[in-house]
Amino acid sequence: MSAVHKIRLVVLISGRGSNLQAILDQAASGEWPVEVAAVISNRPGVQGLERARQAGVLALELDHKLFADRPEFEAALIELIDRYRPDLVILAGFMRVLTPGFTEHYRGRLFNIHPSLLPRFRGLHTHERALAAGETEHGASIHFVTAELDGGPVIVQARVPVLPGDDPDTLAARVLEQEHRLYPLAIRWFAEGRLRLDGERVWFDGKPLAEPLRLEHFTAPAG
Ligand code: GAR
Repeated sequence: MSAVHKIRLVVLISGRGSNLQAILDQAASGEWPVEVAAVISNRPGVQGLERARQAGVLALELDHKLFADRPEFEAALIELIDRYRPDLVILAGFMRVLTPGFTEHYRGRLFNIHPSLLPRFRGLHTHERALAAGETEHGASIHFVTAELDGGPVIVQARVPVLPGDDPDTLAARVLEQEHRLYPLAIRWFAEGRLRLDGERVWFDGKPLAEPLRLEHFTAPAG
């Protein structure tokens, strides 16, 4: 078998790291053209850092509270990330607002996962808000990060039903299961050269997307 060229991935987290775990599991399978070069958390001691260490991946802390302001923190973060020469940087539950200085530096090679069907429910508490709005469908989105918070071009979405009796926790769990399938897929597409950002447009397999891709068109339904 010929050696597969692997892209280098840096993952930014702030907490639990269950999306990170899905990515580490894919990387460990050996069938993925992606190497996780480093995991960086802005919060010290979080579970995601332990997950990285368990997988033998470099786990680093850069505590935003140690910096005078956002630009200073971001300058240090860029310096740290770029030491690992990433082809792609992803936000996986990274809960800091980023300035245009940061998002422009990584334009076209920075993904975020957001727990809603963007453009619906940008920002926080998406599950509570989806329930309060009486939505019958909810989900998660992977998007290229641009200067607009949760506003960058969407690549792919996973949809779940909102069921009678749902509370924010049951709905979050249903969405999270899909998140864990969504991120590995989008990262693989990028690694295979199938995805790119041109201006505000996502291109997939050489064509501009008129609307986000849908996870269910690419994989069999879970369980
Ligand atoms: C995930 O649900 C992710 O979509 C969300 O935080 C959670 C992190 O979980 N991200 C955002 O809300 C970003 N605005 P994890 O640490 O277990 O992956």
